[in-house]
Amino acid sequence: METIDWKNLPFGYIKTDYNLRSVFKNGKWGDIEVSSSEYIDIHIAATGLHYGQEAFEGLKAYMGKDGKIRLFRWEENAKRMISSANGVVMEPFPVEMFKEALFRVIQLNKKYVPPYGSGATLYVRPVLYGSGAEVGVKPGSEYTFIIFVTPVGPYFKGGVVPVNMIISRDVDRAAPMGTGTFKVGGNYAASMRAIVAARKGGYSNTLFLDAKEKKYIDECGPANFFAIKNNTYITPDSKSVLPSITNKSLCELAKDMGLKVERRHIEVDEIESFEEVGACGTAAVITSIKTIVDPDFGKTYNFCKDGNPGPVSTKLYNKLTAIQFGDEPDKFGWITVVE
Ligand SMILES: Cc1ncc(COP(=O)(O)O)c(C=O)c1O
Repeated sequence: METIDWKNLPFGYIKTDYNLRSVFKNGKWGDIEVSSSEYIDIHIAATGLHYGQEAFEGLKAYMGKDGKIRLFRWEENAKRMISSANGVVMEPFPVEMFKEALFRVIQLNKKYVPPYGSGATLYVRPVLYGSGAEVGVKPGSEYTFIIFVTPVGPYFKGGVVPVNMIISRDVDRAAPMGTGTFKVGGNYAASMRAIVAARKGGYSNTLFLDAKEKKYIDECGPANFFAIKNNTYITPDSKSVLPSITNKSLCELAKDMGLKVERRHIEVDEIESFEEVGACGTAAVITSIKTIVDPDFGKTYNFCKDGNPGPVSTKLYNKLTAIQFGDEPDKFGWITVVE
């Protein structure tokens, strides 16, 4: 293992020692096998390649001050992967097998869990795809589950430094009755033109609006959107955003802190009335947004005028990360220690 600069890790891929795999064939899931190869053999007619039968997850393992490795609400990821599998008609990977694979892949790659205090974490990436051969659009009869890990730094560069976003009206990430609520590769493929254009323009990411009316805020690239106003945590109610586990947790934390919580449509016009806005997700944690540019209407909305995240976002960030790293007791029952 080359020496890793834990404090300056990007959000990217670094090779670790082992990954695990299981194949669904002849009507059942096979044993979970350990591999040290970064490659897979894939049938040239696999449905995952041709028809997008693919789903993935993303969760993190956190090293505590006490040397214990913690997982945050992992069952939610296991369940969401089942929902995503059903969404593109794949064989779901059972929760119990997910748990076994998740714990084993972390234990096998323990030395890659970044140290407490570095701000970095071990990102866990489960992926499921149609590996059976079909030509003609129909679900495959074989599926492969793989789980690998890689140490990561913050997704949005600068960590807690507020970022800027651009509204994209010329690209839809997901349709209202489409696959937006599933974590399937096709949604990310669909979002890439907008993300690349945003980055070229000097923005950190893009703010997607609802595909039908282009009237409401959907989500921020690979993260959910939230806003704070009048002691209220507000987040979009939409049929085309990923149900974020982080966002769901922030709703509970906000309530616990005495804020009101509203999950409802958010019109673009409402942006200027917000006190704080941000993106949230496993990778993003809470990333405050300092500027939202709406190029079609020549508008710029500014937040974080002193250059720092707002007080409510900061409080939520501190609370969430304290629970994840085990600095504060977990009264919600969200944490599992990897023994
Ligand atoms: C499109 C999208 N939205 C939101 C999120 C945040 O979800 P979570 O908090 O479960 O990581 C993610 C990341 O998984 C995502 O890819």
